[in-house]
Amino acid sequence: MRLTRVCGILLFVCTCSIVLTSSKNIITAFPPVQWMITALDVIRGVQKVWKIVEMTINEDGPMSPFIDQTERKIFRKMDLIYRKLDIITDSTDAVGTQTITTILRTLPDRIKLELRVNDLLDYMTRIGVFYRNMRYYANTDDLERHTLEDFAHNVISHDGGSVRSLLERVHAFVASNDKGLTNTGILHLLSHAAQEIEGDMRCNTKQSPQQVLFNLYKSIALTELKGYMMMQFSYMLLKLYNKGNFTKEASIMKERYAERTTAAIQSVKEAMADASREFWRCDPQKHVLNESYIEITNLLQGYVQNEVDLNPEGTCRENCAYYSYTKSHSCYQNLYCQQQRRCNGRIIDCQFIDSDAWVCPADVKSGRRYEYIEYENGRTLGRKQGCPKGPVKVDSWWRWLFWHCSYCFCLCDEESVYSDRYINMRSAIADVVNNRVVTGLRFVKNNRIIHLQIQEGKLLPGGEIDVTTIHWVPVENYRITDKNTFNGQDYHTLTSTEREIDLDDLIADDGHVLTGVRFKKVGQHLNFEIYITPFNFSSGQLIDPLHMSVWKDNLISSRKVLNMEKMDVPIRSPLPSVPDSKSQQVLQFTHTDMDRDASQTTVPFIDAQPVELMIPVPLAGAGIYHKGRPHFGGFIAPKIITYDYSKHLQAGFPEDAEKVH
Ligand SMILES: *[C@@H]1O[C@H](CO)[C@@H](O)[C@H](O)[C@H]1NC(C)=O
Ligand SMILES: *[C@@H]1O[C@H](CO)[C@@H](O)[C@H](O)[C@H]1NC(C)=O
Ligand SMILES: *[C@@H]1O[C@H](CO)[C@@H](O)[C@H](O)[C@H]1NC(C)=O
Repeated sequence: MRLTRVCGILLFVCTCSIVLTSSKNIITAFPPVQWMITALDVIRGVQKVWKIVEMTINEDGPMSPFIDQTERKIFRKMDLIYRKLDIITDSTDAVGTQTITTILRTLPDRIKLELRVNDLLDYMTRIGVFYRNMRYYANTDDLERHTLEDFAHNVISHDGGSVRSLLERVHAFVASNDKGLTNTGILHLLSHAAQEIEGDMRCNTKQSPQQVLFNLYKSIALTELKGYMMMQFSYMLLKLYNKGNFTKEASIMKERYAERTTAAIQSVKEAMADASREFWRCDPQKHVLNESYIEITNLLQGYVQNEVDLNPEGTCRENCAYYSYTKSHSCYQNLYCQQQRRCNGRIIDCQFIDSDAWVCPADVKSGRRYEYIEYENGRTLGRKQGCPKGPVKVDSWWRWLFWHCSYCFCLCDEESVYSDRYINMRSAIADVVNNRVVTGLRFVKNNRIIHLQIQEGKLLPGGEIDVTTIHWVPVENYRITDKNTFNGQDYHTLTSTEREIDLDDLIADDGHVLTGVRFKKVGQHLNFEIYITPFNFSSGQLIDPLHMSVWKDNLISSRKVLNMEKMDVPIRSPLPSVPDSKSQQVLQFTHTDMDRDASQTTVPFIDAQPVELMIPVPLAGAGIYHKGRPHFGGFIAPKIITYDYSKHLQAGFPEDAEKVH
């Protein structure tokens, strides 16, 4: 009968793999499994209470002496059900309300209006109020029958404010009145809106858009479940008080609920299949070195030196531009050369700007050589914002009237203690033997080497992660000076000729989860790789991880270069960064712009914020991308791609569900 259908639908939602094994469809649990099981219990509980009511009633209606007794019984039973519901309410509300309010905060008005999220929240709140009242009545003795009757009438009346009407309205948000372009279901619209507005929504919710959708769906589904309970409860009471039969009404209501639930599942499934599963971090409120970001330092740095020191003979016969690749050969007469940190590496790309300048030396700890350089012709390299140590006058000179010994502005490429330019190439792999998978990523600097660190957690049945096992796996603790560590094998050293990093999004094959990451060298590029392992969704077990895991990469030869010319220091940008690279691009670490920053800083910076989810899930992939703003060097950062749950949602429901009667 109808009951069977209702239960069937819920059973489907509620992890038929666990409860129902006789189903023809292969239906698998949907995380969080516990949520669904509890939802099913609630429905079952309501059906049991109906039996109590029916037992009290014979041909002539309710048997009066038993009404009070039955009423109390109903209340006690309902109270047990509320307690069950509380468990899922707590978790759903925490995430769901946060999700909805974040959506509200971050969506542009236009889309907000289109989605009518405010209305949805309003309806949900009003149903919540009814629900609280019902709970209160159930726990309160000595209430007048009139009060309860009035409440029941209000719940099921055709009045606009009744639970019945509110439920219809809530459902209208989920229901799509049409397929495709004219689909107006909120989940569908939201999945499209999320694509339009790159950014805020997903970074502030700490969920991928697909997760946002499912959590929104859960909130709505919970509201509908509460509404269902209240309406059934109201019919029971009215029947008990001999206000009518209501068998028909209750059964129609169940049928409506069944239809709605089916429609909602179909709707959320479609929306989720479309929704992005990427999650990346927006800029923090405040950029903090070594916390929210880390730097490659002094890879190529603006450097002032006189021509006389740039050739072994100490002559001034050429011009600055002649020195495209040289080194510092001397410090002639201990002039300015002696007052600054000398470049003990390659000196490249020199140019002449003007003869005389004021150089403002920077604090050594800052890693910069100069705050700014102001030439006599008025050109200033860098930002002239005061000079605590006082500027130093640097003047070129003539030698025998023929030769101008000019101060050149060059780039220094010096591998030294001042330059952190190492990127780890050892693999970071989760403890697959103990069924751990990667749940998050972040860049960290350890012993001057930049590592991509993994967060791992234990995989559970139904695509869940045991949150108690979540932790960051310590990075390999080695130094470049250690014995038996080699450039090109354990780590990569960035140099003026080898400083490219490939930007790729990598997705695991079907049925695989992310279990590791690493960088390798392909030609002169650093190339990103993911380690993937097959797993069984329903059992939550990695399948023979030691033999079945594989590395996956993207080896294309022609990559579009992401422009990094003439950039300013990333953290000076007044606007937050947005992703501006595409998969299959390549980027070159370089120096900042000469005019904006005297080429003192290496860009891009590296975002060090943990890319982790509020509700950890297994990952289906990861990527390395660039985010920034025009004219600012931006950040390289990892992104994660959540596992695609939409595959595990089945819109049908089993015919042979457990019989209630
Ligand atoms: C209530 O109505 C149903 C059918 O709608 C009927 O089977 C049942 O006997 C009725 N119960 C009472 C107490 O009248
Ligand atoms: C950041 O870390 C580096 C070493 O990795 C250290 O030299 C520097 O002083 C740190 N800076 C700050 C502001 O903590
Ligand atoms: C996955 O695990 C379930 C339960 O342990 C098992 O019944 C099923 O056969 C497994 N599926 C595969 C493809 O191994």
